[in-house]
Amino acid sequence: MTEQEALQWWQRDDLCYRGGELFFSGFAVSTLAKRFCSPSFVYSFARVRQNLERVHAALEDAKLPMGSTVLYAMKANRFGPLLTSLQQTGLCGIDACSPKEVEQAMSCGFLPEQISFTAGSLSRRDVQALARVEGLFVDCDSLHAIKAWGELNPGAHIGIRVNPAMGVSRADNDKLQYAGATATKFGIYEEQLDDALALAQQFGLKITKVHFHTGCGYLTSELPQWDSVIAACLEKFVARCPDVKTVNVGGGLGVPHVANDGTLDLGKWSAVLHKHFGHRKFHVEIEPGEYIVKDAGILLLEKTFEETKQFTRFVGVDAGFNIAPEPAYYSLPFQPLAPRCSGALRKVTVVGNINEALDVWYRDAWLPSLEGQDSLVLINAGAYSASMASNHCMRGEMREFLLADVER
Ligand SMILES: Cc1ncc(COP(=O)(O)O)c(C=O)c1O
Repeated sequence: MTEQEALQWWQRDDLCYRGGELFFSGFAVSTLAKRFCSPSFVYSFARVRQNLERVHAALEDAKLPMGSTVLYAMKANRFGPLLTSLQQTGLCGIDACSPKEVEQAMSCGFLPEQISFTAGSLSRRDVQALARVEGLFVDCDSLHAIKAWGELNPGAHIGIRVNPAMGVSRADNDKLQYAGATATKFGIYEEQLDDALALAQQFGLKITKVHFHTGCGYLTSELPQWDSVIAACLEKFVARCPDVKTVNVGGGLGVPHVANDGTLDLGKWSAVLHKHFGHRKFHVEIEPGEYIVKDAGILLLEKTFEETKQFTRFVGVDAGFNIAPEPAYYSLPFQPLAPRCSGALRKVTVVGNINEALDVWYRDAWLPSLEGQDSLVLINAGAYSASMASNHCMRGEMREFLLADVER
């Protein structure tokens, strides 16, 4: 990435430098840094709403005869005020993946009928907890799940999560792929389908939904692969389930992390949906997490030190990978930015405060001089950051704030 690209690729109306001052959602970041302690995640609900509305517009363009539903994948970010605000938009339901997530969604105002549950490795306790939530729709991801759910809910309508043995992810990152050449735990494979149908019949279960989510973070260049995934699922699974009314094509819509990524072309995305569902009588569900919230969040950090070691200029901050694990786990770079930008840029490596070699936020980031600046910001921290945080080294403390969607 060149110096200029590092300064430009992420800029948009609500996240940009103006007169050398970084603004996010109408606030100078230096003001946010003074107002909120470090480390703090700050989310912009205006941006969340825009992202959601953009997805809805693309679904409209897809001209789906039986309509569509957006289920926000709350594993991306389950912050209560955010979920409550989402509920109030009326623009989405919820994709939940644990009984506790179901509880959290309901406590933020979502009705069981607005929640779709998809998860694996369910314990007896999980199944019992889910069965107590009247109106909850459950996708069974294995023969085990069909049996466990059928035993408690004979005659129910269910979905099945399937695995077409092919997936789609950002830049073919196999850590972000849920289905592919290597067997995964996710979903029912084609060769298991006969057994799945037989089990459903045994318990009088009606399979009214087929669900697949085969990977995360796909962008425009991966759309042909997503297209093939849908085609395979329709042919191998949906065609063999006569009672199916709904097809859930999962989440996985990505946002750019580096200059070359570019944004996901939703026009092309909606054309893929139109191609497969424009002439079929299925209601279509999608369950994005990242696309809705990731670029709506920043992580405010305090600068702790600056020092050159063996020709590398290190900048330390007061939080490590444990509170936002994606850069370390999935090699997804979270661009660091300075609240004020002036003068020439130089390359620095931004590191956290955890005693692990992988605790590097960003290698060779272009940043301005940080002299007189106490803070740094990481962008793209709205998804899979706070929700995946741990207390490693007992440094799990952080706070979350939602900037309400109001005129400023
Ligand atoms: C079943 C399921 N649906 C939806 C999602 C959301 O994915 P993303 O945040 O990439 O859109 C996930 C995430 O892994 C998932 O496992």
